Amino acid sequence: MKILVCGGAGFIGSTFVRRRLTQTADELVVLDKLTYAGNRANLSDIEGDPSLSIRYGFVHGDIADPTVIRKLVVNADVDAVVNFAAESHVDRSILDAEAFLRTGVVGVHILLEATRTLAAARSASGRRPPRFVQVSTDEVYGSVPVGSSVETDVLAPASPYSAAKAAGELLVQSYRATYGLDTLITRGSNTYGPFQYPEKVVPLFITNALQNLALPLYGDGLQRRDWLHVDDHADAIGVVLDRGEPGGVYNIPGTGERANVDLTRAILAQLDCPWSLVRTVEDRAGHDRRYAMDGSRLAAIGWSHRVAFEGGLADTIAWYRANEEWWRPLLNADWTAYYDRQYRKRLAESVPRG
Ligand code: NAD
Ligand code: TYD
Repeated sequence: MKILVCGGAGFIGSTFVRRRLTQTADELVVLDKLTYAGNRANLSDIEGDPSLSIRYGFVHGDIADPTVIRKLVVNADVDAVVNFAAESHVDRSILDAEAFLRTGVVGVHILLEATRTLAAARSASGRRPPRFVQVSTDEVYGSVPVGSSVETDVLAPASPYSAAKAAGELLVQSYRATYGLDTLITRGSNTYGPFQYPEKVVPLFITNALQNLALPLYGDGLQRRDWLHVDDHADAIGVVLDRGEPGGVYNIPGTGERANVDLTRAILAQLDCPWSLVRTVEDRAGHDRRYAMDGSRLAAIGWSHRVAFEGGLADTIAWYRANEEWWRPLLNADWTAYYDRQYRKRLAESVPRG
């Protein structure tokens, strides 16, 4: 297969590219805007390995640019588009949502339009239509106090981030219903692992602890997330691409539902760092208390987890310890500006977490 991977220089996208190139004979082209979260270094091992790079290409560009997208989808005649591209951090969406909508709605629309054009050309010549995979999130369901979400549940996003992701999904569904596009949607759980930009809680708490900085725990710290290792997330998207039913929506649950306070305890224990680093700070606005998903639909097409939470977290911590040269350069002036905006007042008013 020839696949266009949008957002392939980010955390999950680069993992997908690495694993797909290793596990299949597919040809992959990455399109990435290289926002603050996109990082060419995430792909450097692939670019430096001739046995993989022969089936790989990189284009610096925006999914919301119709000229670039037409070339990469229609002219390149791809078999599939897998869209990871998004602004992905809830806290940033609360500070400023504009880019979330531009990429998550306008960008998705441009990708769908190009895929529709290609599908029409292929159908005229009797060829299989291209597949379109939209990588989405459990956050579209909103907070789930008890039980677990199934794919047919109503979407109730609570942050500008999750609202943009839900809007992207609805556009994808409309192209399925209206134009018969061969679409798929995955809803992945909170993901952790190597190469995750340090704004998200797992790498933030690991890298802060390694620098002896405070860990800002929001509110009472009893919000719950179900942690999914990035290798499992990437492989599940591959299974959906290969075996998902046209029009299908697939939850990808994790293996480790934990309260944030317990996650924090596990990180500090493994790093042998003191609990006194933890500060209770002002809560996130509109903070979802819990996410949990049912994974039977994905299991029915033959996918199961490989990485248990405890081992996955230990390996991730070891990776951040061993790869300071990857994350230290990310703590640049832009990072400091964001960090100040998000945490300075919170930390100034914080109290130790007992
Ligand atoms: P990330 O922020 O690490 O990567 C996003 C990538 O998209 C970056 O490389 C960025 O440069 C690129 N990008 C952003 N806007 C773009 C645009 N307009 N055109 C082209 N490229 C653009 O995010 P991630 O954690 O790897 O998440 C990937 C996808 O998975 C996202 O769609 C996210 O919503 C979804 N997801 C993430 C998680 C998680 O826990 N991280 C969980 C479920 C779903
Ligand atoms: P995050 O990694 O931002 O993922 P998401 O918002 O997509 O779930 O946050 C995970 C949990 O950790 C969430 O409940 C918010 C909490 N959190 C903190 O307590 N402190 C922080 O500094 C951050 C970034 C998150």
